[in-house]
Amino acid sequence: MTDWTDIGALSDIPERGARVVKTHMGCVAVFRTVDDEVFAIDDACPHKGGPLSEGIVHGRSVTCPLHNMVLRLDTGQAQGADEGSVNTYAIRVESGRIMLDTARLRRGQVA
Ligand code: FES
Repeated sequence: MTDWTDIGALSDIPERGARVVKTHMGCVAVFRTVDDEVFAIDDACPHKGGPLSEGIVHGRSVTCPLHNMVLRLDTGQAQGADEGSVNTYAIRVESGRIMLDTARLRRGQVA
């Protein structure tokens, strides 16, 4: 079951930028790519917890600002020789508004 929650306008996030949504499960980073795709992943890098929302977005990936681990925004998986992953969350854009599926966050279920 999904529970779409409006978390703001797409235009609130700059291209290749991010904003942070605080949840009781931790901070979720919401990214906007140059193609206006949006992705939501945990804001804590699997390496040492770096703030991924402050990383550099390129394509469908983000580079952690602390030690340059590259994570895919769509799968949450580390790229290249690095290992690790973050949780991803369902998200979509509807009439310029960003909708995040908060059902899983509320249930405390993470994939
Ligand atoms: S904390 Fe992200 S690469 Fe080290």
